[in-house]
Amino acid sequence: MDNAVNTRRSGRVSIIEIENPPVNAFSNAVRAQLSAAVAAAHADPEVEAIVLIGAGRVFSGGAEIREFGLAMGKPSLPEMIGEVEASTKPVVAALHGVAFGGGLELPLGCHFRIAAPNTKFALPEVKLGLLPGAGGTQRLPRLVGLVRAAKFIVSGDPIGAAEALAIGMIDAIADGNLEAAAVALAQKAVADKTPLRRLSAIEMPKTETGAFEAEAAALLKRARGLDAPAGCLAALRNTLTLPFAEGLAAERAGFIALRDGAQSKAQRHLFFAERAALKVAGIPAGTRARRIAKVAVLGAGTMGGGIAMCFASTGFAVTMIDPNAEALARGRATIEANYRATLKRGGMSEAAMNGALALLATSDRMDAVADCDLVIEAVFEDMALKKTIFAELDRLAKPGAILASNTSTLDVDAIAAVTSRPQDVCGMHFFSPANIMKLLEIVRGEKTAPDVLQTAIEIGKSIGKVPVVVGVCYGFVGNRMLHARSPEVERLLLEGASPAAIDKAATDFGFAMGPCAVGDLAGLDVGWRIRKERGATAPVADAICALGRFGQKTGAGYFRYEAGSRAPIPDPEIEALIAKIAGEMQVQRRVISPEEILERLVFPLVNEGARILEEGIAERSGDIDLVWVNGYGWPVGRGGPMFHADQVGLALVAARLNHYAEVARNPKLRAAPLLERLATEGKGFADFIRA
Ligand code: NAI
Repeated sequence: MDNAVNTRRSGRVSIIEIENPPVNAFSNAVRAQLSAAVAAAHADPEVEAIVLIGAGRVFSGGAEIREFGLAMGKPSLPEMIGEVEASTKPVVAALHGVAFGGGLELPLGCHFRIAAPNTKFALPEVKLGLLPGAGGTQRLPRLVGLVRAAKFIVSGDPIGAAEALAIGMIDAIADGNLEAAAVALAQKAVADKTPLRRLSAIEMPKTETGAFEAEAAALLKRARGLDAPAGCLAALRNTLTLPFAEGLAAERAGFIALRDGAQSKAQRHLFFAERAALKVAGIPAGTRARRIAKVAVLGAGTMGGGIAMCFASTGFAVTMIDPNAEALARGRATIEANYRATLKRGGMSEAAMNGALALLATSDRMDAVADCDLVIEAVFEDMALKKTIFAELDRLAKPGAILASNTSTLDVDAIAAVTSRPQDVCGMHFFSPANIMKLLEIVRGEKTAPDVLQTAIEIGKSIGKVPVVVGVCYGFVGNRMLHARSPEVERLLLEGASPAAIDKAATDFGFAMGPCAVGDLAGLDVGWRIRKERGATAPVADAICALGRFGQKTGAGYFRYEAGSRAPIPDPEIEALIAKIAGEMQVQRRVISPEEILERLVFPLVNEGARILEEGIAERSGDIDLVWVNGYGWPVGRGGPMFHADQVGLALVAARLNHYAEVARNPKLRAAPLLERLATEGKGFADFIRA
């Protein structure tokens, strides 16, 4: 076994250092060696106190989730933490970098906690569909109070050292050398005979019961059908009724139930998919990103404004450019109003808002791009216009500047071809509202340089997005799949499923909204206009638009809306209209089961995803899942369409698609070749590796 734990001495203090790069995860080896090292220090009469510290850049990122599902070696994490807490010699946790998950639960089992100023603290298990399963839900409330612990654990978000100190999560911040400060703290505890504080021994005060239940109800409301937040809260609630040991056992049972459930599996898949998506074929290892200090956004409309906010909010100087003075002023005003609304909701501080606004400049002149390192074009979706603009950018932008288009459908190679520097051109496709939606499709053109892609990925990360590299095709990954699905919504309506029934199947599955309500929200006229331009039809949607019903903005679409309300109300008028069209088209109407509706909403997406994968438009199935979860409201607990199909089993998915293709006499619904092949081989999309 490699040495994952090193021990050294400073006077009579034993310093036990965890060294398991990159994040000192508590693998089987680390736990066993740490346990042995603590026992040895405890048995050594020369040792009076113990310091636990991490080697490298962090204390610890917590459990080794790659070992989930493998045999768990002894001791388990809760057992190891129990051993540390039971020590009769003072144990000081010396923290730096990150103390996440088990990497914070272990310090909670120590008697003292000291941290470097840069340390971040979190119990992010909830984001993997789990609860902190090594005493975090039982010890933290005893240290910082139940309500505070609930907010911290159910959000999973990190806090900094100053806040951790303020709420009593740590005892001190080490200004100078962390190890020396921790040793000094240990020596002082010995000299002063400071009583050892074991959090497990603290009696839980019952004073917060009412406040906790109020907080729990609010947190659950935001949980959107995920089990983990409820699991965290149940474990926390136990601190009020159960003695520590029983609370710990219940926490473990809750953890195992979540870990073995479908949702956590899906969430862990997404966690790994996000990391995998950053490694892109064709970008040589060690490729350095270009330096981006100043950004320009062309177009002050819906997307341009949102994109400019993404940069200003994260500390980039950004200039929003629009030749239309009125559009520019409106764009700026919208941004300011958005920031103020966030401020009012408590989503950002006044200082942060002022900081962002100070970074945002506007201009009505294109030559303002001259000193920018990255230019993102978000003007009207019009190829001729985009070509004119990129030709101008070629003339005005400095050498090495990255020229990106936010186009949702147009050919990025054709745009790049009008410049003398196609290697510097790529797509950066944001999703509306761009300041909120996490997805960033990075479109790799035929000539896009590797370091340009690398820069787009890193910039995407630094503005808080989930970057996914995709290839050039109509609609890229997300919209292309959506377009493949739209005709099926029409078919379902014609064959007898009401808009309400369709949307219910989607929301029961976990989508926040169904496709009909989404259409009403986005505006049905948008698609209508595009169809007219492309000579396409959608009998139901076209007929609804012909009535002037464009969705929420006109008070009616697939549904009707009461003034001032966004709640969709089923409208018999529309149901009669659909029945009439179906009659004219001689479509046989029938009762369609919710299961069939769901399959016909989901499997066409999967089928198009299979084509996208086979064509190499997406590199891995996980990339497609990220697109749908972060850009299209696919329920997190379902892991994305490709993951979902893998869980259902591709043989079944292929069989159902072929069946629906027959019924609807629509050959496009036939299972795609890659889907057929993987199904025959008994494999999943996750097994597909591009040759
Ligand atoms: P929009 O119509 O709200 O804004 C376009 C803006 O571009 C207008 O303010 C216009 O004055 C400005 N503009 C026109 N010519 C210009 C020029 N020569 N230089 C600088 N600015 C100029 O359009 P929206 O919705 O923001 O879309 C922009 C782009 O983003 C399109 O390519 C669209 O396909 C894409 N997109 C749109 C999404 C959406 O949901 N609206 C989502 C993702 C991408």
